Amino acid sequence: TRVMVCFGGRSSEHQISCATAAGVLNAINRDKFEVIPVGITRQGQWVLEEDRPEKFRLDPENMPEVVDNGTRILLPDAVTHREVRVIRDGEISSLGEIDIVFPLLHGPYGEDGTVQGMLELVGLPFVGSGVLASAAGMDKHYTKLVLASAGVRVAPGLTVQQHDWETAHDDVTAKIFDTCDFPMFVKPARAGSSVGVSKVKAAAELDEAMRVAFAEDDHVLIETGIDGRELEVAVLESRPGERARASVAGEIVMERGEFYDFESKYLDASAARLTCPADLTDAELAEMQELAIRSFEALGCSSLSRVDFFLDADGFLVNEINTMPGFTPISMFPRCWAETGLEYPELITELIEVALA
Ligand code: DAL
Ligand code: MG
Repeated sequence: TRVMVCFGGRSSEHQISCATAAGVLNAINRDKFEVIPVGITRQGQWVLEEDRPEKFRLDPENMPEVVDNGTRILLPDAVTHREVRVIRDGEISSLGEIDIVFPLLHGPYGEDGTVQGMLELVGLPFVGSGVLASAAGMDKHYTKLVLASAGVRVAPGLTVQQHDWETAHDDVTAKIFDTCDFPMFVKPARAGSSVGVSKVKAAAELDEAMRVAFAEDDHVLIETGIDGRELEVAVLESRPGERARASVAGEIVMERGEFYDFESKYLDASAARLTCPADLTDAELAEMQELAIRSFEALGCSSLSRVDFFLDADGFLVNEINTMPGFTPISMFPRCWAETGLEYPELITELIEVALA
């Protein structure tokens, strides 16, 4: 089976996508799969990359990056053929037919339905959710609407558009304070890895938090912060005809810092501790798994997702869903599956085989 692995991309999670790809390139079963590594630069050029996991591994001192090496990938332009070609030194050559694309892309222009739509258009099968689930899962505003309508508890919050913030600042501010309690979380509606997210503990901090979030997206979500445990469950689509499966739960325990931000996720390994399986009763785990699968189904997800929860005095609440979760060997998604009995290389095989089934 020939797999085109895509990584990098135009979003602020470019480097995390590279680290995810390093994990997959390293672990994918080479007896079963032939890999064509394709990098997408921050500017959006699709280039033929080296098949060298160590080049892209997560290194806080020197975060991985796809740079323009001058090559250009040419995808099929019709649903009737699956040949991928490359332009190198002005010459076009064939990379052969591919069977499937594994878009290991996080954030906008990768995890949000855009790449998925392009792949559907040219008839290339791919790992991950389709257009609608990717778009809805990327946008925290729409995720909340869909989950709430499926009876899943979500944090109180509201979404503000940049134009309204700029033209009706005082009215919008009043509405925010009516809807949400301190501490609040201010988040770009469509971003990930906590890029652009701030915790707001007093009214005077709101304007700066909104500015930071609007730098990522012109839609910003403001939510009441939840005081509780932070837990995650990984979901996998099953073979045709079977219901999706949920893993055991993982937990994020903050050792220091205000919240699980970009720094504590990727740069400072000692700021947060990931434990798996989390200490939960059987009934709690069963409830979480049911909510995770319900969220996956409500958004119309396929293939895989990680569903992020809080557990407070009122029970479970879904914070968000990630349709292409971080996938480095130490990330929560593969860890949850390893603890459930599916090791990292088999997990990759499973994702590809189910997508092709
Ligand atoms: N958005 C990051 C990669 C995650 O959810 O793991
Ligand atoms: Mg996310």
